[in-house]
Amino acid sequence: MKYSQIVGTGSYLPSRILTNNELAQSVDTTDEWIVERTGIHQRHIASNTDTVAGMAAAAAKQAIAAAGIDVNKIDLIVVATSTPDKFFPSTACLVQEQLGINECPAFDVGAACAGFNYALSVADNFIRGGMSKCALVIGSEIMSRIIDWNDRGTCILFADGAGAVLLEVASQPGIFSTHLHAAGQYKDLLYTPSGLHAAEPAYMKMKGSEVFKVAVTKLSLLVSEALDANKMSNSEIDWFIPHQANLRIIQATAKHLNLPMEQVVVTVGEHGNTSAASVPLALDQAIRDGRIKRGQVLLLESFGGGFAWGASLIRY
Ligand SMILES: CC(C)(COP(=O)(O)OP(=O)(O)OC[C@H]1O[C@@H](n2cnc3c(N)ncnc32)[C@H](O)[C@@H]1OP(=O)(O)O)[C@@H](O)C(=O)NCCC(=O)NCCS
Repeated sequence: MKYSQIVGTGSYLPSRILTNNELAQSVDTTDEWIVERTGIHQRHIASNTDTVAGMAAAAAKQAIAAAGIDVNKIDLIVVATSTPDKFFPSTACLVQEQLGINECPAFDVGAACAGFNYALSVADNFIRGGMSKCALVIGSEIMSRIIDWNDRGTCILFADGAGAVLLEVASQPGIFSTHLHAAGQYKDLLYTPSGLHAAEPAYMKMKGSEVFKVAVTKLSLLVSEALDANKMSNSEIDWFIPHQANLRIIQATAKHLNLPMEQVVVTVGEHGNTSAASVPLALDQAIRDGRIKRGQVLLLESFGGGFAWGASLIRY
């Protein structure tokens, strides 16, 4: 049997930090309200010269360095993003060019905030099926460019960043399983219109409290599904690495798992919601600061527009 194993991680955050107090100068909100309802204190915002592909490549370079491999070993690039620099070429092709990797397949996956778990699942299945031996999986987003900065319901939440994971084929898991779902009937609760159709500006729209309720319900079912599929109990999870959308959603899912918050990687306070980048950013942070150690069991999940949601159960 073939499995995939994480051999390196990396991340990138733009240097500009936007605090709640700064936001409160332009929209009718307060630091107290944002912290109480979301857990967010600040977020990183891309500069005019940052690109989604450039941030992805920066995160990828760290992952490649951490793994200590030659870039030309990489035979697959999958990028999760909802904010690509161009409709085409794909962000993955732009990353491939920036990293100087030769002619491997490279493509993007669009599953909004769930994108990283989708991309990880695709790469894992390429490796299990024998089509890849070394896959680069990246989540990269510049959400600040699709935010209506006058909409206090969304501009306080979303932010920019990139995270990357390098997978290699292994004889043992690695990734035990991935679990993906989507339900298009929720398409009107969270969406960004296409800039090609001029009827409305291409800014994100969200019915926040309705998104919140569905997210909590679906994520609780999802994490149980991932454990059940592997006949594991919650006591076997060392680290829960959730999508960083809202601290209250994270706490509700951790409570469902009966996990203390000490075993949950939380970056939402500093990063905000970086959509497809949030899970690999959190994973990389907890690996680099020494919390996550080799051999430990990790549960990753994410949820977003579509709705689409996904989880991955992994031995690191
Ligand atoms: C957006 C979110 C923080 C709003 O919190 P909430 O507790 O649900 O608040 P509601 O939307 O019910 O709004 C409650 C009140 O706060 C107001 N409000 C909304 N945003 C505000 C802000 N930034 N500052 C102050 N007040 C705000 C609303 O206008 C509303 O006022 P009203 O009662 O006078 O009409 C919350 O719904 C949320 O995080 N939802 C999930 C979003 C998410 O995770 N999306 C991404 C999924 S990937």
